[in-house]
Amino acid sequence: MSLPFKTIDDVEIAGKRILLRVDMNCSVDPETKIILDDSRIVALLPTLRELSSAKVVLMAHQGRPGSDDFISLQQHTQILKNYGINASFVDDIFGDKAKNAIRNVQVGEVLVLQNVRCFDGELKTGPAKEVAKESIVQELYPLFDLFINDAFGAAHRSQPSLVGFTAVLPSVAGRLVEKEIRTLTDATATDRHPWTLVLGGSKIEDKIKTLEKLLAVGRIDNALLGGLVGTLFLITKGKISESYSASIKGFDDIAARAKKILGSYSDIIQLPIDAAVEKKGQRIECDFDKMNDAPFFDIGPKTVASFADTITKSAVVFANGPMGFFEKEAFAIGTSEILDAIAACQGITVVGGGHMGAMAKAKKIEDKITHISTGGGATINFLTGKKLDLIVALEEAARRM
Ligand code: 3PG
Repeated sequence: MSLPFKTIDDVEIAGKRILLRVDMNCSVDPETKIILDDSRIVALLPTLRELSSAKVVLMAHQGRPGSDDFISLQQHTQILKNYGINASFVDDIFGDKAKNAIRNVQVGEVLVLQNVRCFDGELKTGPAKEVAKESIVQELYPLFDLFINDAFGAAHRSQPSLVGFTAVLPSVAGRLVEKEIRTLTDATATDRHPWTLVLGGSKIEDKIKTLEKLLAVGRIDNALLGGLVGTLFLITKGKISESYSASIKGFDDIAARAKKILGSYSDIIQLPIDAAVEKKGQRIECDFDKMNDAPFFDIGPKTVASFADTITKSAVVFANGPMGFFEKEAFAIGTSEILDAIAACQGITVVGGGHMGAMAKAKKIEDKITHISTGGGATINFLTGKKLDLIVALEEAARRM
């Protein structure tokens, strides 16, 4: 398959000063702030090893300002070192401290900059030429010969560090972006049906947007909704109390969109039919009328059975986002059993996003799943057929090179 953008094979690497944007946004324990799963870091190792004859500066985000997982990249640097990468960390992005450290990087070394989202301007989005005006791009690009983007997990974002550098530097894709695009293109090149989307987790606004797109293009035959996304639809449908909306940001707007989706696609949307709630620290499985406002942390066994039945009969399954509060062992059951159903499905199966991918690996069922993608939102967005922002930017760069 020929790719519409350039890769590491198309450029000279030896001795070059390379800015490498990656996605090593990991699950973090909300209390200890310790990284729970390093698979996104492991997925970058092939690219990093191939760049050992260059001077590499690594740029990445972790969480979002204000979120529990918004932490420094110091831990990530230590993990890279544990995997044999000659990495060091600088607590700066594009100030003098960072620039001096960048100028001193030697061949074979990898300098990790601080979390790019510590810079406010990084949260802007727009076309490459527009976000290239941000100071993060303007201050840094003269220090490099080449930009390599390997941040597949963030390929649906058009922030300055993701697309801005492609407007001002020769730019190519890293090995992970290349592998993900090839694998996902293969996986989606099938006429077989039914297609099932299993959608859970949080980041509701993003997920509703993608769901709207997927439904509008007629891509999916079934959408099984769990996690906070499922909760939103259950409230909208009046199945559970509105008190469960407290953890959903911008609930009123989002609920209106969920209502519209239910109105037009009720034959495609499948919602949980029972729950697992926490009472006195215990997992209690019950019907919705017995929840009594107790924290709704997982889908119940009847839901698992009904979702599993749909999954088993599917020709293609894409899954993104846990079905419940999987960080608490008792409430990881729903996600775990849905993963078992995906592993048992004979069709093409793709599991995306850090949380589900990590759980599939921990359960040792990776070899029963067609592809475990490092992308969550990026992978689901790929399904809509619309080109990912990162790919659009790399294609434009390729045309100029
Ligand atoms: C992800 O985990 O989906 C990517 O790292 C993108 O993160 P974001 O949703 O915070 O932009």
